[in-house]
Amino acid sequence: MDVAPMDVAIVSTLARPDLVPLTARWRWQEFYRARGVPFAEVLAQTERALAAAAPLPRTLVLIAGGVPVGTASLAAEDMTERPDLTPWLAGVVVAPHARGQGHATRLVGAVEAEAVALGFRTLWLYTDAAESLYARAGWQLAERIGRGARAFALMRRSLQVTTAIHPSDDSASGDRGLPY
Ligand SMILES: CC(C)(COP(=O)(O)OP(=O)(O)OC[C@H]1O[C@@H](n2cnc3c(N)ncnc32)[C@H](O)[C@@H]1OP(=O)(O)O)[C@@H](O)C(=O)NCCC(=O)NCCS
Repeated sequence: MDVAPMDVAIVSTLARPDLVPLTARWRWQEFYRARGVPFAEVLAQTERALAAAAPLPRTLVLIAGGVPVGTASLAAEDMTERPDLTPWLAGVVVAPHARGQGHATRLVGAVEAEAVALGFRTLWLYTDAAESLYARAGWQLAERIGRGARAFALMRRSLQVTTAIHPSDDSASGDRGLPY
């Protein structure tokens, strides 16, 4: 099904806290369930992060035709091996029925814009699932990092900063529970 651009909106869970359980469920299904992490733990961490009202994380939700179909976050930390890097594009998930329509690309662009608005100059992500998606969106491979039998691409995106709210990247702080 094609979705016309005018039918797509991207909102923050700051404005739509009712969407928090849905974003937590998507992230749990894609990143935590297989590792045995209970959904309640992911939900509790997501709710704590929102309640903390820290600059990060920020979670965006894409709504297509009135239906929430995907999420992505700007997070202070994400990869345990690289606590020195911040901030991260994290938790990118599009519901299975809505994939292949450019929604992930839109969410990535919206998180990049959020990072720019907060004054960040560089954004990081790691993936072993969608490297070419990010490469097509302008991300560059920085390093390959092994984790057991898995190899992850650490990628970086240079951002053009137009508005500086935070003077440096280390102003980011957030919940220190599960990574996004
Ligand atoms: C990966 C995911 C977010 C892509 O969502 P999507 O809305 O279908 O992606 P888009 O439609 O924006 O795709 C943009 C481009 O990337 C490509 N692409 C989509 N998924 C991809 C993947 N997993 N790997 C590589 N390329 C991918 C598309 O073919 C498209 O290419 P095109 O521009 O040449 O047409 C979605 O499949 C998903 O939620 N997967 C499970 C969670 C996950 O793996 N998240 C990423 C973790 S880093």
